[in-house]
Amino acid sequence: MTAIDVITAKRDGGRLTDDQIDWVLAAYTRGDVADEQMAALAMAILLNGMEPDEISRWTQAMIDSGEVLSFGDIGRPLVDKHSTGGVGDKITLPLAPLVAACGAAVPQLSGRGLGHTGGTLDKLESIRGWRASLSLEEIAAQLADVGAVVCATTPTLAPADRKLYALRDVTGTVESIPLIASSIMSKKIAEGTGGLVLDVKVGSGAFMKTPERARELAATMVRIGTAHGLATTALLTDMSVPLGRAVGNALEVAESVEVLRGGGPADVVALTVALAREMLTLAGIAGVDPAQVLASGAAYAVWERMIAAQGGDPSAALPVASHVEPVVAERAGVVGFDALAVGVAAWRLGAGRARKEDAVQAGAGVLLLVEPGEKVEAGQPVLELHTDTPDAVAGARAALEGGLTVADEPRPRPELLLDTIRA
Ligand code: URA
Repeated sequence: MTAIDVITAKRDGGRLTDDQIDWVLAAYTRGDVADEQMAALAMAILLNGMEPDEISRWTQAMIDSGEVLSFGDIGRPLVDKHSTGGVGDKITLPLAPLVAACGAAVPQLSGRGLGHTGGTLDKLESIRGWRASLSLEEIAAQLADVGAVVCATTPTLAPADRKLYALRDVTGTVESIPLIASSIMSKKIAEGTGGLVLDVKVGSGAFMKTPERARELAATMVRIGTAHGLATTALLTDMSVPLGRAVGNALEVAESVEVLRGGGPADVVALTVALAREMLTLAGIAGVDPAQVLASGAAYAVWERMIAAQGGDPSAALPVASHVEPVVAERAGVVGFDALAVGVAAWRLGAGRARKEDAVQAGAGVLLLVEPGEKVEAGQPVLELHTDTPDAVAGARAALEGGLTVADEPRPRPELLLDTIRA
């Protein structure tokens, strides 16, 4: 078989055979298929799509390129969640300890942020001493003891995806639903979780800009999970406005701690509890109300242990930016924030990275001083910009043009929970 056979088969709109899929992904991982050949194949897949069973085989071949983790019997059911990424999406931080406090174990192997959506590891690294890299033995021990681990994914999980995702990033082929779905699901299946809840974001601040595309991605991932024996449920949730009031690494940790202490913004609390309910259902844990567990402080106690187990000091003061300045409303009216605009502003302030090797600023980001839909006066501060590099403020303000609106009439805010897709 040659790479050209596989590329031309997909270019001409055919279904790749199981042998072609297995061969091309194994050969690419070994380095026997060149990047330019894989780029051509990825573009052919983006343009011509894949059949459901073809996507499932592609996912299996990505899993087979590396190791599949098994934590053995840790005495609790394993369940995880994955978000397709959004602005202010810090839900993993309160969710993992909450679900652990309810009796399940959460092995959350995460990545770093790229572009305008933040990465969970970047957020947690703003806590003094916290360590993202753990050995498999450390992960298993922490799962059994604390019940929740959030750490860096290992290079041995789906290495074909690691290579292919970097290639897609520079060849305009990220947006293919078969490639996104197989990329996410190969890593989650290889992680060895027993159940998976997907938070598929829809709106300006998300990968998927329309409900139709988001529903198709969600259904594709639920189908892959089911085909691989992984109980999978997807929630479709709104990402047209930022989640909560904090966007940026340490700012989001502080907001997550508020939620774990029984406070925090209503949308963050509602989404955390909704995802926890689905995770507990998949884990087979009945009769535990995550809203009550959150309010009781039990999830906060797990948070402290989870952070300390990875070397972090949960009581240490979080880093703050050296420069803070307000953005004021230019007129009186009802305020609105666009998720993408706020995400790009936070990114430009230093909260995110443009290239994988860039560093992030722990204290940088954007704080919403008022709720979307709230009435404000002319000259009232509505946002706060936080950065260690004041030169970045002009770029952040430019990003907010058109994304910070003050209108005469309130615009209806989309529902947070748009749909649930079950197997
Ligand atoms: N996240 C992933 O892990 N893979 C994709 O393709 C897109 C988002």
